[in-house]
Amino acid sequence: MALRSILIAPDARLKEKSKPVEGPVTDEHRRLMDDMLETMYDAPGIGLAAIQIGEPLRIIVMDLAPDGEPKKPRYFVNPEILSRSEEMFAYEEGCLSVPEIYDDVERPARVRLRYMDYNGKQIEEDCEGLYAVCIQHEMDHLEGVLFIDHLSRLKKEKALAKLKKAKKLAEENKEHRL
Ligand code: NI
Repeated sequence: MALRSILIAPDARLKEKSKPVEGPVTDEHRRLMDDMLETMYDAPGIGLAAIQIGEPLRIIVMDLAPDGEPKKPRYFVNPEILSRSEEMFAYEEGCLSVPEIYDDVERPARVRLRYMDYNGKQIEEDCEGLYAVCIQHEMDHLEGVLFIDHLSRLKKEKALAKLKKAKKLAEENKEHRL
């Protein structure tokens, strides 16, 4: 396993649409999922899409186990939402690619999901609560969409300005590092 660096917005790659995994899930995909999980735990975060480490593939990892409880990694290859509830649910979201910005996003409260797991087994299941929030947030990444894209124009512009400023500062600090 290897730690990979996480792309930070604004970055054109985060707007890319990720491609489906063609054919079966291979050891190469599993290596990528292992790296993604390690990177996500290190960050730390609860979900990560492959494009966030620069790999435009429809692969997501997640672990929603509360702190102090045994880890429960989940892997999603080519996830698809089969149906969404009409009922909506608002949750304060953040994103490893959008550091230090948190805001409420409203999404369908429940979704029916189909995906392949780590071993390529096809699974269908109903998600709700944080699981539904997280899978919809991560699946947005596969379409090149960030949670700040769901905010009002004003809030999104403020968030982008903050991100650009932080990026510039980080660059300057790098230049001055001896
Ligand atoms: Ni995210």
